[in-house]
Amino acid sequence: MPTTLSASEITTPRTAITRTVLMCRPDFFTVDYRINPWMHPEQPTDTSLAVRQWQTLYDTYVGLGFDVQLVDPIDGLPDMVYAANGGFVIDNVAYGASFTYEQRQPEGPAYMDWFRAQDFDVRVPENINEGEGDFLLVGGVILAGTGFRSASNSHAEVAAIYGRQVVTLELVNPSFYHLDTAIAVLDATNIAYLPSAFTDQGNATLQRLFPDALIATEEDAAVLGLNSFSDGYNVVIASRAKDFERQLRERGYNPIGVDLSELLRGGGGVKCCTLELRR
Ligand code: ARG
Repeated sequence: MPTTLSASEITTPRTAITRTVLMCRPDFFTVDYRINPWMHPEQPTDTSLAVRQWQTLYDTYVGLGFDVQLVDPIDGLPDMVYAANGGFVIDNVAYGASFTYEQRQPEGPAYMDWFRAQDFDVRVPENINEGEGDFLLVGGVILAGTGFRSASNSHAEVAAIYGRQVVTLELVNPSFYHLDTAIAVLDATNIAYLPSAFTDQGNATLQRLFPDALIATEEDAAVLGLNSFSDGYNVVIASRAKDFERQLRERGYNPIGVDLSELLRGGGGVKCCTLELRR
């Protein structure tokens, strides 16, 4: 038994900051094309189950005191439920999405229309990017994913728009094709991640920036456990991500499990269904 605890093992008091988020009810959710390895169009989906599971996530956020806003789902855009991909919003500035695959391209303008109607300062993107799927704000720094979806030139665009440091991280595993499937932002200084999802260079960068990061197991990542949403204390996660839950508790967070198994069949989890709106 060790007699002293390392810095990362000491339970720090955590502070919840009430969030404003955008969600999209999966009324038209199905899997009828395959743009990531999780999707199997030959297997039937249950849209009403997806809606019920999504409602649990919605209710969880409302219960945490979040301001949850809704964008209308559009028939024929089955992936629109993954609101994280609809843009990236900081300081009232909404950087629009420009999707990699044509099946999702109409979602970009649909989300930008919603941002405009809500008086966000909308920036029409010049480069391919999938919003908060690949851009994660940690304190003052923006972590930016590339390799499968967002193009690296979108990282430079984001740096110019927000005047913040953007750290490029290259993803290498097609199952973890968006940054938010491989990194969970816990608060302004802490993250959790899956090392095998990144290049050696990416791992070196993450170790340097976050030496105390929580390291997720392959098992938890395989149920998109890292695809979670934190308010700084409460962390909404996939209920099947048991080791992640334990590690969060050990570090003074309050993990809250939800089951989004039907939405996992589209390759998305908690975070994918959640776009943070920062005014
Ligand atoms: N089927 C969607 C796609 O492949 C899932 C998006 C998941 N979203 C996310 N933020 N990781 O584009």
